[in-house]
Amino acid sequence: MYLQFKSTVTSEKNADGVTILRTPFSQIDWKENSSILNTCLQDLWLGKEEDTLAAFALQEGGSNALAELYYYLDKLKKHHLLNFTITSHDLPLFTLNPFPPFDFETHEIQDSAVYQLSRFCYARREGSCIVLETPLCSSQLILQQKESLFIFHALAQPCSANTLSADFPQFSQSTIRQCLQFFLNSKMIDAYEGDSSQEEQNPIFIQWDFHDLLFHSRSRSGRSPSYPKTAFPFRGKIPPTPAIKTSTTSERIALFRPDMETLQKEDPPFSRVLETRTSQRVHGDEPITIRQLGEFLFRCARIKHLKTIEDLDFSARPYPSGGALYELELYPIIQSCAGISSSLYHYNAQQHELHKISNLNKITDLIVHRARLSTTTEHPPQILIIIAARFQRVSWKYPSGAYALILKNTGVLLQTMYLVATAMDLAPCAVGTGNADLFAKAIDSNYYEETSVGEFILGSKKN
Ligand SMILES: Cc1cc2nc3c(=O)[nH]c(=O)nc-3n(C[C@H](O)[C@H](O)[C@H](O)COP(=O)(O)O)c2cc1C
Repeated sequence: MYLQFKSTVTSEKNADGVTILRTPFSQIDWKENSSILNTCLQDLWLGKEEDTLAAFALQEGGSNALAELYYYLDKLKKHHLLNFTITSHDLPLFTLNPFPPFDFETHEIQDSAVYQLSRFCYARREGSCIVLETPLCSSQLILQQKESLFIFHALAQPCSANTLSADFPQFSQSTIRQCLQFFLNSKMIDAYEGDSSQEEQNPIFIQWDFHDLLFHSRSRSGRSPSYPKTAFPFRGKIPPTPAIKTSTTSERIALFRPDMETLQKEDPPFSRVLETRTSQRVHGDEPITIRQLGEFLFRCARIKHLKTIEDLDFSARPYPSGGALYELELYPIIQSCAGISSSLYHYNAQQHELHKISNLNKITDLIVHRARLSTTTEHPPQILIIIAARFQRVSWKYPSGAYALILKNTGVLLQTMYLVATAMDLAPCAVGTGNADLFAKAIDSNYYEETSVGEFILGSKKN
């Protein structure tokens, strides 16, 4: 096994002359003064076979030096400062790059045991390498040559150490076993029990969708190699997305502004609003009015004021939003609302206006049709409000977990809309499905820049 410091490890001496080794996650003090161990430490920057280091320590300092070497190697391993590479005929095959809280476990590879790739393991490019990852474990396996890929491919089928050795006679049996150890240790393969893998027999795992578990593990700290990352990674490189979306349309409709002081006195009590809130999918015979829509949008989503801090504009609105970035935009598709024509609009939260985007068309009809199917209603909703996100508003500041934050903000806004609609005696209902591609077409946006992340139907209450 070839050991090497990770490229993220740095070394410096403190005031007492002690060498401090640091990674983004941890640091250790290297207090050892023995010249043998310090030579081994130097070797780890370029990388060295573990056996060669051990032979050197034994030859130069006997069994005491060897024991000390293993004590320090263990410490470096536990603090995730090292990468481990399996080599064959001096060529690297797989490199294990562990991150906290990765734990090294020793697995006995039985001749008869059958292994298969976990359903959660995936390959992707990082820099000029192909890396294997899984949301089950905080590590990466770097494929170092074509043969590594072939072994990875072979593990898609259930196979044992013996069948792998027969398939890859160019590698020794011990190399194949080391590979299986790495895969098992990184939870990228799973052992069979009976006629299926343990993972497939586990009622908790089988209920996790691959993408959901990956998203969950990568949007929380814990086992994600992308943490910790500093905020504002694009500052000075890419200008931030402005707080207010620029509008190009000349068709602008000023909306009614309710008197908030009067509402604070006359609104139903908060507990009644909270307790009586329900999802109402069917709308009344009389359509909602433009005045009600104006009041609703004002109470949920208007911009109260703007401020600039350094190079970033911030707004204040009635609902909370992660980082005060307010990346969400509202797009009412109006089917039936007294006082305004049926069209697709954008809500300008600063001016408190509706800006017309287009007449209803095949695309908006399809979007509304799908919302109707999701809510199993006979008639189209009077208003379908699409919540869209301007993604880079958040990812410019937060390099990891931006999308998770956007979805949390969407939930916050949905609840605000529910409560305001209830206080106004209107019929609210969130919609769980929506087609982000169709919506990007409807507003003629770049899917990767702005598209839908949530939907909400609103109308008059059915008596
Ligand atoms: C994020 C979210 C998505 C929802 N999606 C749908 C949906 O697609 N169709 C539907 O009929 N109701 C949908 N609902 C409404 C829920 O079914 C409803 O909140 C739940 O049944 C509880 O009922 P209540 O809201 O009346 O208390 C959704 C609610 C939320 C919060």
